[in-house]
Amino acid sequence: MTKTVFVHLIAASIIFAQEGHPKIDPARIVKYDRVDFKVPDFPATGLILDIGGGGEAVIGQLKGTQVISIDLSARELKQSPGDALKLVMDATDMKFVDGSFQTTTSFFTLMYVPQEKQLQVMNEVFRVLKPGGRFLIWDVDLPALSDPAKDVAIFYFRFLLPAKEIMTGYGTLLTPRARLSADYASLAREAGFEILSQSTHGRTFSMELRRP
Ligand SMILES: C[S@@+](CC[C@H](N)C(=O)[O-])C[C@H]1O[C@@H](n2cnc3c(N)ncnc32)[C@H](O)[C@@H]1O
Repeated sequence: MTKTVFVHLIAASIIFAQEGHPKIDPARIVKYDRVDFKVPDFPATGLILDIGGGGEAVIGQLKGTQVISIDLSARELKQSPGDALKLVMDATDMKFVDGSFQTTTSFFTLMYVPQEKQLQVMNEVFRVLKPGGRFLIWDVDLPALSDPAKDVAIFYFRFLLPAKEIMTGYGTLLTPRARLSADYASLAREAGFEILSQSTHGRTFSMELRRP
């Protein structure tokens, strides 16, 4: 089993734990306390491309039929709520022509993308955005693996949307190198993005990028 596939299984087991999916050995897990995290509505014209939009499909729940949601996992998409158009697609190799979207979102997806593929995702998002288009990112600052016996981190959330609350947890494998907002910011600059804004809330951050 590749590391990537394993990480997706972890995601599924956490997001869908109540539906009988296998659980990870608790001894391996570093748990981060549940945090309340506000997800306000945001203005966007035209279609919104949401990468890694399976799971709780928070952006799909927020923006409905305006969203085209892509995910590597058909199961994650099938089980996700909301009215987005759902397509199985890899964010490192998207099938959209250049300049297709005004807005792209990544809601706790980059933490599931292996480090060596994250620049590919940035480059692909840059490519499918129109000039002036925005890439909105929400994610966590992942610490480096410090104890090899504790190699799984789970971050618990209560997302506060304008009309509902969503309780969930996102888990991923820890790696020897931390993955921090500063790393995503430098990948974004390397891909050609301007950073319009950045904010942190504990271990969680959000970032707004613009394709010049
Ligand atoms: C935490 S989960 C779902 C988060 C989701 N945005 C939500 O609102 O709950 C992250 C998702 O990213 C997907 N993913 C990981 N790598 C991907 C890639 N290269 N392309 C598309 N989806 C990917 C995983 O299959 C997983 O469903």
